[in-house]
Amino acid sequence: MTDQVELRKKRAGEKAVEWIEDGMTIGLGSGSTVYWTIKKLGELVNKGMKIKGVPSSIRTEGWANQFGVPLTDFQQGTELDLAIDGADEVDPSFHLIKGGGGSLVREKIVNAASKNLIIVVDESKVVSNLGEFGVPIEVVPFGWEVTERRISQMGCRSIQLRKSENEIYVSNNGNYILDCHFGYIENAMNLHAQLKQVVGVVETGLFIGMTDHVIVGKDNGVQVLRK
Ligand code: A5P
Repeated sequence: MTDQVELRKKRAGEKAVEWIEDGMTIGLGSGSTVYWTIKKLGELVNKGMKIKGVPSSIRTEGWANQFGVPLTDFQQGTELDLAIDGADEVDPSFHLIKGGGGSLVREKIVNAASKNLIIVVDESKVVSNLGEFGVPIEVVPFGWEVTERRISQMGCRSIQLRKSENEIYVSNNGNYILDCHFGYIENAMNLHAQLKQVVGVVETGLFIGMTDHVIVGKDNGVQVLRK
Protein backbone atom coordinates (compact mmCIF):
# COMPACT_ATOMS: atom_id res chain seq x y z
CA MET A 1 0.00 0.00 0.00
CA THR A 2 1.35 3.42 -0.89
CA ASP A 3 1.87 6.12 1.71
CA GLN A 4 -0.77 8.17 -0.11
CA VAL A 5 -3.45 5.48 0.29
CA GLU A 6 -2.52 5.07 3.93
CA LEU A 7 -2.79 8.83 4.43
CA ARG A 8 -6.29 8.83 2.89
CA LYS A 9 -7.32 6.00 5.21
CA LYS A 10 -5.88 7.85 8.20
CA ARG A 11 -7.78 11.02 7.31
CA ALA A 12 -11.10 9.18 7.02
CA GLY A 13 -10.54 7.01 10.08
CA GLU A 14 -9.56 9.90 12.34
CA LYS A 15 -12.37 12.18 11.15
CA ALA A 16 -15.01 9.73 12.40
CA VAL A 17 -14.22 10.41 16.07
CA GLU A 18 -15.86 13.84 15.64
CA TRP A 19 -19.23 12.02 15.88
CA ILE A 20 -18.36 10.47 19.24
CA GLU A 21 -19.72 11.96 22.45
CA ASP A 22 -18.86 11.31 26.06
CA GLY A 23 -20.66 8.27 27.44
CA MET A 24 -21.28 6.57 24.10
CA THR A 25 -20.93 2.85 23.44
CA ILE A 26 -19.43 2.37 20.01
CA GLY A 27 -19.32 -0.53 17.59
CA LEU A 28 -15.73 -0.91 16.43
CA GLY A 29 -15.46 -2.19 12.86
CA SER A 30 -12.52 -3.98 11.31
CA GLY A 31 -9.81 -3.18 8.80
CA SER A 32 -6.90 -0.88 8.25
CA THR A 33 -9.00 2.33 8.04
CA VAL A 34 -10.77 1.71 11.34
CA TYR A 35 -7.33 1.13 12.86
CA TRP A 36 -6.86 4.91 12.71
CA THR A 37 -10.23 5.49 14.37
CA ILE A 38 -9.33 3.18 17.24
CA LYS A 39 -5.92 4.79 17.67
CA LYS A 40 -7.55 8.24 17.85
CA LEU A 41 -10.18 6.92 20.27
CA GLY A 42 -7.36 5.78 22.53
CA GLU A 43 -6.09 9.38 22.61
CA LEU A 44 -9.55 10.66 23.57
CA VAL A 45 -9.84 8.04 26.32
CA ASN A 46 -6.42 9.11 27.62
CA LYS A 47 -7.72 12.67 27.79
CA GLY A 48 -10.63 11.52 29.98
CA MET A 49 -13.44 10.73 27.55
CA LYS A 50 -15.70 7.98 28.88
CA ILE A 51 -16.59 5.59 26.08
CA LYS A 52 -16.81 1.86 25.55
CA GLY A 53 -16.40 -0.19 22.40
CA VAL A 54 -17.75 -3.49 21.12
CA PRO A 55 -15.17 -5.03 18.75
CA SER A 56 -16.16 -6.79 15.52
CA SER A 57 -13.05 -8.95 15.24
CA ILE A 58 -10.26 -10.40 17.30
CA ARG A 59 -7.84 -8.06 15.50
CA THR A 60 -9.93 -5.02 16.43
CA GLU A 61 -10.07 -6.24 20.03
CA GLY A 62 -6.26 -6.34 20.00
CA TRP A 63 -6.01 -2.76 18.70
CA ALA A 64 -8.51 -1.52 21.31
CA ASN A 65 -6.45 -3.14 24.06
CA GLN A 66 -3.25 -1.71 22.57
CA PHE A 67 -4.62 1.85 22.55
CA GLY A 68 -6.50 1.66 25.86
CA VAL A 69 -10.08 1.73 24.55
CA PRO A 70 -12.33 0.03 27.14
CA LEU A 71 -14.39 -2.83 25.72
CA THR A 72 -17.75 -4.35 26.51
CA ASP A 73 -20.00 -6.94 24.87
CA PHE A 74 -23.68 -7.50 24.16
CA GLN A 75 -24.41 -8.96 27.58
CA GLN A 76 -26.55 -6.93 29.99
CA GLY A 77 -28.50 -5.33 27.15
CA THR A 78 -25.69 -3.17 25.75
CA GLU A 79 -27.02 -0.64 23.20
CA LEU A 80 -24.70 0.84 20.57
CA ASP A 81 -25.01 4.57 19.92
CA LEU A 82 -22.76 4.51 16.88
CA ALA A 83 -20.73 2.02 14.84
CA ILE A 84 -17.72 2.98 12.74
CA ASP A 85 -16.53 0.54 10.10
CA GLY A 86 -14.59 0.29 6.85
CA ALA A 87 -15.78 -1.11 3.51
CA ASP A 88 -14.46 -2.62 0.31
CA GLU A 89 -16.98 -0.86 -1.94
CA VAL A 90 -19.58 1.88 -1.34
CA ASP A 91 -22.20 2.72 -3.97
CA PRO A 92 -24.22 5.95 -4.37
CA SER A 93 -27.07 4.49 -2.24
CA PHE A 94 -24.55 3.69 0.50
CA HIS A 95 -24.94 -0.05 -0.08
CA LEU A 96 -21.67 -1.79 0.73
CA ILE A 97 -19.50 -4.77 -0.01
CA LYS A 98 -17.58 -5.80 3.09
CA GLY A 99 -15.61 -8.79 4.25
CA GLY A 100 -12.29 -8.30 2.50
CA GLY A 101 -10.71 -8.76 5.92
CA GLY A 102 -12.90 -11.74 6.72
CA SER A 103 -14.93 -10.19 9.56
CA LEU A 104 -18.25 -9.68 7.80
CA VAL A 105 -20.49 -11.65 10.17
CA ARG A 106 -19.42 -9.91 13.36
CA GLU A 107 -19.33 -6.58 11.53
CA LYS A 108 -22.91 -7.05 10.35
CA ILE A 109 -24.09 -8.03 13.83
CA VAL A 110 -22.39 -5.00 15.37
CA ASN A 111 -23.53 -2.58 12.66
CA ALA A 112 -27.12 -3.85 12.72
CA ALA A 113 -27.20 -3.39 16.49
CA SER A 114 -26.17 0.25 16.27
CA LYS A 115 -28.43 3.29 16.04
CA ASN A 116 -26.09 4.87 13.47
CA LEU A 117 -23.37 3.61 11.16
CA ILE A 118 -20.50 5.66 9.80
CA ILE A 119 -18.36 4.11 7.06
CA VAL A 120 -14.75 5.24 6.67
CA VAL A 121 -13.00 4.61 3.35
CA ASP A 122 -10.31 5.94 1.10
CA GLU A 123 -11.69 7.32 -2.14
CA SER A 124 -10.79 4.24 -4.20
CA LYS A 125 -13.66 2.39 -2.44
CA VAL A 126 -16.37 4.72 -3.74
CA VAL A 127 -17.89 3.13 -6.86
CA SER A 128 -20.88 3.72 -9.11
CA ASN A 129 -21.83 0.01 -9.13
CA LEU A 130 -21.07 -2.71 -6.62
CA GLY A 131 -19.40 -5.87 -7.86
CA GLU A 132 -15.87 -5.47 -9.04
CA PHE A 133 -14.45 -6.43 -5.65
CA GLY A 134 -16.53 -9.63 -5.50
CA VAL A 135 -18.86 -10.64 -2.70
CA PRO A 136 -17.37 -12.44 0.31
CA ILE A 137 -19.81 -15.05 1.61
CA GLU A 138 -19.25 -16.79 4.93
CA VAL A 139 -20.28 -20.46 4.84
CA VAL A 140 -20.36 -23.37 7.27
CA PRO A 141 -17.30 -25.63 6.69
CA PHE A 142 -19.40 -28.82 6.62
CA GLY A 143 -20.49 -29.41 3.03
CA TRP A 144 -18.96 -26.16 1.77
CA GLU A 145 -18.46 -27.82 -1.61
CA VAL A 146 -22.19 -28.25 -2.14
CA THR A 147 -22.84 -24.70 -0.88
CA GLU A 148 -20.30 -23.50 -3.43
CA ARG A 149 -22.05 -25.40 -6.22
CA ARG A 150 -25.42 -23.89 -5.31
CA ILE A 151 -23.95 -20.37 -5.32
CA SER A 152 -22.19 -21.05 -8.64
CA GLN A 153 -25.59 -21.76 -10.19
CA MET A 154 -26.80 -18.27 -9.20
CA GLY A 155 -25.00 -16.33 -11.89
CA CYS A 156 -21.64 -16.35 -10.22
CA ARG A 157 -18.83 -15.89 -12.79
CA SER A 158 -16.05 -17.08 -10.53
CA ILE A 159 -15.99 -18.42 -7.03
CA GLN A 160 -13.03 -19.19 -4.83
CA LEU A 161 -12.58 -20.63 -1.40
CA ARG A 162 -10.53 -18.02 0.45
CA LYS A 163 -7.04 -19.14 1.39
CA SER A 164 -4.33 -17.57 3.45
CA GLU A 165 -0.74 -18.71 2.97
CA ASN A 166 -2.03 -21.81 1.13
CA GLU A 167 -4.26 -22.83 4.03
CA ILE A 168 -8.04 -22.49 4.03
CA TYR A 169 -8.88 -19.16 5.67
CA VAL A 170 -10.98 -19.65 8.81
CA SER A 171 -13.05 -16.74 10.11
CA ASN A 172 -13.25 -15.67 13.76
CA ASN A 173 -16.45 -17.73 13.86
CA GLY A 174 -14.75 -20.93 12.64
CA ASN A 175 -16.30 -20.70 9.15
CA TYR A 176 -14.98 -20.53 5.58
CA ILE A 177 -15.33 -17.67 3.10
CA LEU A 178 -16.22 -17.97 -0.57
CA ASP A 179 -15.22 -14.98 -2.73
CA CYS A 180 -17.80 -14.74 -5.50
CA HIS A 181 -17.75 -12.52 -8.56
CA PHE A 182 -21.17 -11.77 -10.08
CA GLY A 183 -20.01 -8.94 -12.35
CA TYR A 184 -21.73 -5.62 -11.68
CA ILE A 185 -24.59 -6.21 -9.30
CA GLU A 186 -27.89 -4.73 -10.50
CA ASN A 187 -29.95 -5.38 -7.40
CA ALA A 188 -27.82 -5.98 -4.31
CA MET A 189 -30.81 -6.49 -2.04
CA ASN A 190 -32.21 -9.28 -4.24
CA LEU A 191 -28.83 -10.95 -4.57
CA HIS A 192 -28.33 -10.86 -0.81
CA ALA A 193 -31.83 -12.30 -0.21
CA GLN A 194 -31.23 -15.12 -2.72
CA LEU A 195 -27.84 -16.01 -1.27
CA LYS A 196 -29.31 -16.17 2.22
CA GLN A 197 -31.71 -18.87 1.00
CA VAL A 198 -28.82 -21.24 0.26
CA VAL A 199 -28.35 -23.78 3.03
CA GLY A 200 -24.86 -23.42 4.45
CA VAL A 201 -24.61 -19.67 3.88
CA VAL A 202 -24.07 -17.89 7.19
CA GLU A 203 -23.99 -14.30 5.91
CA THR A 204 -23.08 -12.26 2.87
CA GLY A 205 -20.78 -9.27 2.55
CA LEU A 206 -23.60 -7.19 1.04
CA PHE A 207 -24.58 -4.55 3.62
CA ILE A 208 -27.81 -3.01 2.36
CA GLY A 209 -29.46 0.10 3.77
CA MET A 210 -27.42 0.20 6.96
CA THR A 211 -25.15 3.21 6.44
CA ASP A 212 -25.92 6.76 7.60
CA HIS A 213 -22.76 8.66 6.62
CA VAL A 214 -19.68 7.87 4.57
CA ILE A 215 -16.38 9.60 5.33
CA VAL A 216 -14.09 9.56 2.32
CA GLY A 217 -10.37 10.16 2.72
CA LYS A 218 -8.90 12.02 -0.26
CA ASP A 219 -5.51 13.35 -1.28
CA ASN A 220 -6.55 16.87 -0.30
CA GLY A 221 -8.66 16.20 2.81
CA VAL A 222 -11.89 14.42 3.74
CA GLN A 223 -15.39 14.51 2.34
CA VAL A 224 -18.46 13.59 4.38
CA LEU A 225 -21.26 12.07 2.31
CA ARG A 226 -24.72 12.23 3.88
CA LYS A 227 -27.93 10.61 2.69
C1 A5P B 1 -13.26 -6.56 7.12
O1 A5P B 1 -13.86 -7.80 7.01
C2 A5P B 1 -13.77 -5.65 6.07
O2 A5P B 1 -15.15 -5.58 5.94
C3 A5P B 1 -13.15 -4.29 6.17
O3 A5P B 1 -13.93 -3.39 6.88
C4 A5P B 1 -12.94 -3.83 4.77
O4 A5P B 1 -12.26 -4.87 4.10
C5 A5P B 1 -12.17 -2.54 4.67
O5 A5P B 1 -10.88 -2.73 5.11
P1 A5P B 1 -9.75 -1.63 4.94
O6 A5P B 1 -10.16 -0.47 5.78
O7 A5P B 1 -8.52 -2.34 5.44
O8 A5P B 1 -9.66 -1.30 3.49
